[in-house]
Amino acid sequence: MRAFRESFARFIMPYKFGIDEVTTKVSILREEFSELHEYNPIEHISSRLKSAESIEQKIVRKQCEPSYDAIRESITDIAGVRIVCSFVSDVYHVFDLLTAQEDVHVLRVKDYIAAPKPNGYKSLHAIVEIPVFLSEGSVLVPVEIQLRTVAMDFWASLEHKIYYKYDGDVPAGILRDLTAAADTANDLDVTMEKLHHQVRGAGPTDGIPIAI
Ligand code: GTP
Ligand code: MG
Repeated sequence: MRAFRESFARFIMPYKFGIDEVTTKVSILREEFSELHEYNPIEHISSRLKSAESIEQKIVRKQCEPSYDAIRESITDIAGVRIVCSFVSDVYHVFDLLTAQEDVHVLRVKDYIAAPKPNGYKSLHAIVEIPVFLSEGSVLVPVEIQLRTVAMDFWASLEHKIYYKYDGDVPAGILRDLTAAADTANDLDVTMEKLHHQVRGAGPTDGIPIAI
């Protein structure tokens, strides 16, 4: 058991550093934006390292071989960073700025904003690979980045709680109401974006810098 704990700690460590690298990148963009444009496109950043227990559940679900090499290959959401932005345009802008960085290599993108899930879930997901420099050399670490607006985040966190409460078997009426709530969240995003553009002008660097 002790040997497992030690090997797991060694296995998980680069993922933690991968999170640190990505959150630092996002914090730098956020601070730079606030300084130069008196505007902050990022509401908040959170991160999570997948627990040994949820890695185990995913191994079973994906029928992945229970070896560290196989897990490294097939489970790409061990390191997760969530970036919550004010407006939909900011989501894409922050995504573009992050993925344009030369040490950020995009492995996969799922745009659930352009194509929402049937339940109404919206977010922009990217699996990126970034180098982490350790004493013995560098390793490439996959990090799952989820970008969404405040309204999308509000909806997703409630949906997640409901899904767990009903153990995945959510009553039809509640599912319907949730999907309707996703439409309302979307309407709010559209209205807020419109207002934002009216006040600020076309782009984040255009016009008079007014923080709203
Ligand atoms: P997982 O095996 O669950 O990681 O899904 P996947 O590999 O098919 O990836 P996908 O990009 O579809 O989803 C990854 C993550 O996005 C999930 O682990 C959740 O955090 C989030 N997510 C995806 N779909 C939903 C949803 O319908 N509701 C909520 N609340 N979150 C979702
Ligand atoms: Mg996941």
